[in-house]
Amino acid sequence: MVRSNAGVCLGLNEPWTVEEVELDPPGPHDVVVRMGFAGLCHSDEHLRVGDTTATPEYLEFLDVDSLFPVLGGHEGAGVVEEVGSLVTELAPGDHVATVFIPACGHCKWCASGRQHLCDLGSRALAGPMIGDGVWRHRLGGRNLSRMFQVGTWTETLLIDGRSLVKIPDDVPLDVAAVVSCGIATGFGSAVNRGNVRPGEVVVVVGTGGVGHGAVMGASLGGARVIVAVDPLQQKREHALGLGATHAADSMASALALVAELTDGQMADMAILTPGQLKGEMLAEALPLVSKGGRVVCTAVAPSAALDAKISLFDLNMSDKALLGTLYGSTSPRVQIANLLSLYRDGKLPLEKVISKRYQLDEINEGYKDMEEGRTVRGVIQF
Ligand SMILES: NC(=O)c1ccc[n+]([C@@H]2O[C@H](COP(=O)([O-])OP(=O)(O)OC[C@H]3O[C@@H](n4cnc5c(N)ncnc54)[C@H](O)[C@@H]3O)[C@@H](O)[C@H]2O)c1
Ligand SMILES: [Zn+2]
Ligand SMILES: [Zn+2]
Repeated sequence: MVRSNAGVCLGLNEPWTVEEVELDPPGPHDVVVRMGFAGLCHSDEHLRVGDTTATPEYLEFLDVDSLFPVLGGHEGAGVVEEVGSLVTELAPGDHVATVFIPACGHCKWCASGRQHLCDLGSRALAGPMIGDGVWRHRLGGRNLSRMFQVGTWTETLLIDGRSLVKIPDDVPLDVAAVVSCGIATGFGSAVNRGNVRPGEVVVVVGTGGVGHGAVMGASLGGARVIVAVDPLQQKREHALGLGATHAADSMASALALVAELTDGQMADMAILTPGQLKGEMLAEALPLVSKGGRVVCTAVAPSAALDAKISLFDLNMSDKALLGTLYGSTSPRVQIANLLSLYRDGKLPLEKVISKRYQLDEINEGYKDMEEGRTVRGVIQF
């Protein structure tokens, strides 16, 4: 048994605390990773504050009573130390990034090039190791879940090998950590789900880590105008430095700006990446796009929320598309490699998204900085 200091949430709305967790030796599908950096994505906070919940039926399927206690974090990168007997694609010394959606390579979704929809993701929210269903993480003798079956806020990471992607040795681990979820998701929202085309007008609503990925994706995809919408001035200004051409403090002010910039035609696409998706945002987002335009919904809404406000008349009479996306609708293995190649070629300044490094015991401070606009993406340094 190995002990590791880790960032844990003990129960709903409890703060993140550093606890000594117990890890069993790796099972056949598992890998032990020495963590280098881990990112602070908004999705971990969604779980902590109860936006992300599970129905009694889903808890039963996961074979847990509660989503807590949970080891936090799903963005991250580190170096492999040990691999289980059935892990053939990774070896000690390999550099890896974590992905919150494991890929089996065999299910219908993997086989059709959509690894982000892999069936192994059905167990993502809590529970034992996905390889053999054995609990190998404990806190004070109690079974411990890991955020999205990852849980990167730990010195030593014990994880299924299918939740790891090998990365080049010369890529800084902090850069790989932020790419692993937020940037890849935002980038894919613009490029893969949104299918941005040269000359288009794109509005990105919410320019945190994911929104910055969307801005950079729209920019590399050739968008002519990119409007960054965020109530926080620092986030808007940061986005202007990474490809956004205009900024607005709300969707209402973006509406007037986009109308002016497009002669009333409106944007080709709006990408919704605020901290939380709310049903009423759709009523504001749909008028931002033109006839035939698309609205990509990337931000996470409370899982129990059912109501959305939207003009269904505008949706069909103006031939608009409303699109959801998981992980920017791309296979993590393809997208992470793609983005790190662009980074190495100097075409994607990913290091500029990393605003601050924190110690493991500063997670709550990191989220406060994110919420109050002092950071775009914070990372924990091990
Ligand atoms: N679909 C996916 O696969 C996926 C993957 C990763 C993250 N997410 C989700 O994406 C969202 C963004 O994540 P993040 O880590 O970038 O969060 P973040 O908190 O870093 O950024 C959110 C930004 O939205 C801004 N904002 C808040 N309300 C707004 C509004 N009404 N209009 C415009 N801007 C507003 C905030 O000021 C902030 O800058 C979260 O909901 C996260 O859970 C989804
Ligand atoms: Zn699969
Ligand atoms: Zn994330």
